[in-house]
Amino acid sequence: MKKSFLLIIMMVAACLSIRAARTDYRIIPQPKSVAVDSTQVFELRSGMGISYDASDPEVSRNVQMLRQWVEELTGITLALTPDDKKAPVKLVLGMASDKKSKKAKKGQAAQTQSEQQQEAYTISVGKAGLEIRARKPIGFFRAAQTLRKALPIASKEDRGTAVQLPYAEIQDEPRFVYRGAHLDCARHYFSVEVIKQYLDVMALHGCNQFHWHFTEDQGWRFEVKALPDLAKKGSVRNQTVVGRNTGVYDGQRYGGYYTQEECRELVNYAAERYINIIPEIDLPGHMLSALHVYPNLGCTGGPYEVWPIWGVSRDVLCAGNPETMTFLKTVLGELCDVFPSKFIHIGGDECPKERWQNCPKCQAKAKELGLVDDGKHSVENQLQTWINHEIEHFLNERGRDLIGWDETLEGGLTEGATVMSWRGVDGGVEAARQHHRVIMSPTTYCYIDYYQLKDQWNQPLGIGGYLPVSKVYSFEPLMPDALSEEEQKYILGPQVNLWTEYVAYPQHVFYMLLPRLDAISEVQWCRPDQKDFQDFKNRLPRMLQLYDQMGLNYCRKVE
Ligand code: ACM
Ligand code: ZN
Repeated sequence: MKKSFLLIIMMVAACLSIRAARTDYRIIPQPKSVAVDSTQVFELRSGMGISYDASDPEVSRNVQMLRQWVEELTGITLALTPDDKKAPVKLVLGMASDKKSKKAKKGQAAQTQSEQQQEAYTISVGKAGLEIRARKPIGFFRAAQTLRKALPIASKEDRGTAVQLPYAEIQDEPRFVYRGAHLDCARHYFSVEVIKQYLDVMALHGCNQFHWHFTEDQGWRFEVKALPDLAKKGSVRNQTVVGRNTGVYDGQRYGGYYTQEECRELVNYAAERYINIIPEIDLPGHMLSALHVYPNLGCTGGPYEVWPIWGVSRDVLCAGNPETMTFLKTVLGELCDVFPSKFIHIGGDECPKERWQNCPKCQAKAKELGLVDDGKHSVENQLQTWINHEIEHFLNERGRDLIGWDETLEGGLTEGATVMSWRGVDGGVEAARQHHRVIMSPTTYCYIDYYQLKDQWNQPLGIGGYLPVSKVYSFEPLMPDALSEEEQKYILGPQVNLWTEYVAYPQHVFYMLLPRLDAISEVQWCRPDQKDFQDFKNRLPRMLQLYDQMGLNYCRKVE
């Protein structure tokens, strides 16, 4: 009798432990190293405490986020017990490996750490529980995101029941210092709430640079207080072309802009997620919305309209009008006040030179500057470089660095310019050879406005092209066949770009982004020898479950 009672108890216990959902550390992007002993588990339960340094507000904020994610995913509520040295979940500042290497290098100056090493963390799961170590609070945030992607998502019935964490040792830090994603909020306006969601998804993938493109021919979306009409009038187009410049228009006024207060709110929201916002004022082309408000800044004097169609406009800012520079400095001055980013993007792409060639003011300016065609750089391309020089000086005085699209190479790069290579990788390669910093975002691997499935006819209308997840995943940004190891050091990292001529709604934004952001995140985060597309695809379903839980749309097929 006693024996069978014991057996029943053992069977019930076995059933319960089978029921307990398991954590799976095979996440995206994959950590640098993961060693798992799946024969032993630590069980995480409601009421367990987390210890951490509560005197550090940044650490406390990250603990709150971890606690919230654990609760959202599993229904398990952890207790905040900062001073409990015996708490089953511990966050400890300082890496065990640093102590060892300090001892080994006694007497030597401490090695300086790369920015990537500052983001490092370790997770140890063992008998004593779960211990997270990091050099800086950012490491806790990265570790918390890893757990968020590894913990099982409980069904309604299972919420609040214990979760098993197999014993494990995880070590992690990113490969590239720059891990970007861009969003065009000028062709279409997306609300602050949608941008916050975009930032959340970026943070989930370890991205740290949000390139915010928000001025365009089709709308000016940044409030400039000294020029109140710029956003008020420049943000509104009277109508939008239907489809790909069909000649048919929707007859709907379309507008929206971001106040400086909203921009600051987003800067803070991003910073709490360890994302820097790089704002872009695209100049001297892509400026019709500004020219509509200030036609005197154009070579012909206008009139100009906020563009209702897509493409590249011949009308650009007049390089010979001194008011142009005053205008740009007013705009960029306020931009620098609002955005603390070290990098400021000044665009520089797609600036046809036809108007400048025929404009007496532009030609007089070129003469005054003594510009002559040297066979490599035309007079007008050099005129654009002169603008870049002026702007770079202005930004440098404010402690900022300039980024431009790869067209900025055409008139000769300014001294400290960083190049964002988009027309393939050649511009990036050339800039790196010239010892300029480079961000790689070539159309061929990084333009996520392209279709991601071959069957375009069953996709929402897009700009064209074909960039499947597998192609994004295959990108190697260091160009080892073209660049020496020394030159490769100038490649800061890759970025995906989402242009929105044909992307008008948030559901479509996330459909284009996901899961291609998963693919680029492994390019950004992982060493090339860690990458395996089949393995990546096996890890993807758990991410998709998370997107479902977060209410995010995504493309359900992977090619
Ligand atoms: C670009 O796609 N025009 C930078
Ligand atoms: Zn001109």
